[in-house]
Amino acid sequence: MTEPMRELRLLVSDVDNTLLGDDEATERFARWHASRRGGVRLAYASGRLFDSIAETVRQTSLPDPDVVIGGVGTDIQEYPSGRALQAWHEANSAHWNPDAIRAILAGDARLEPQPSSEQTPFKISYYMHDASERELAAIQRRLEQAGYDAQIVYSSNRDLDVLPKGANKGTAAAFLAYTWDISPDQVIVAGDSGNDRALFDHGFRGIIVANARPELAGVQHPLIYHARKPYADGVLEGIAYWTGDHSIG
Ligand code: GLC
Ligand code: MG
Repeated sequence: MTEPMRELRLLVSDVDNTLLGDDEATERFARWHASRRGGVRLAYASGRLFDSIAETVRQTSLPDPDVVIGGVGTDIQEYPSGRALQAWHEANSAHWNPDAIRAILAGDARLEPQPSSEQTPFKISYYMHDASERELAAIQRRLEQAGYDAQIVYSSNRDLDVLPKGANKGTAAAFLAYTWDISPDQVIVAGDSGNDRALFDHGFRGIIVANARPELAGVQHPLIYHARKPYADGVLEGIAYWTGDHSIG
């Protein structure tokens, strides 16, 4: 058993299949959050974009976050205003040329572009069903050979995102913690699939929910807690584990 953390000041959680998936569990999460209001900042980190997450917050019992990390970490926007942290886009603009990257990958029969509603100047997304490690490495190589510092993120055996090298859910979470002067040991992160992998790279306390996809379920690290419960109940279980507050979850 790891020592309980000092104080939880920031929770960064994925939305789909992490806080959402079991409506009653989402309500339990909202009640926990209401009881902690003001004490803990809340950021949603999603592959979806701000407007889509805002719509979900309005339509479900998900509590209002302070910030939305959208587009797999490529956007950071305050909630509810939608005001974007331009500094984050500026930090990720170097060596990033989305038109050139699209051109390199156009014509690859394995890649089907996602709808235009999922594309932004900093996120190029495709569907690629059942991609193997080799195929993913080959795409990465093509981008590198063309001189682009892009990273690819593969999730749910289907979604392939091409992002600036420095932008993912983890680096965005680290940027927020730094901006708010919160140390890594006061941060908890939670997720269920491949695009959440990077959340666990920054010394934060991690939670992987029981319903996680294989690409995440197998990740072992002393700072990652694998919850026995799925969805938001798993997040609450993990918060109880890391904070030592067993009245939760
Ligand atoms: C969300 C986004 C999609 C992305 C996927 C994985 O489903 O809508 O564009 O590819 O997350 O990051
Ligand atoms: Mg998810």
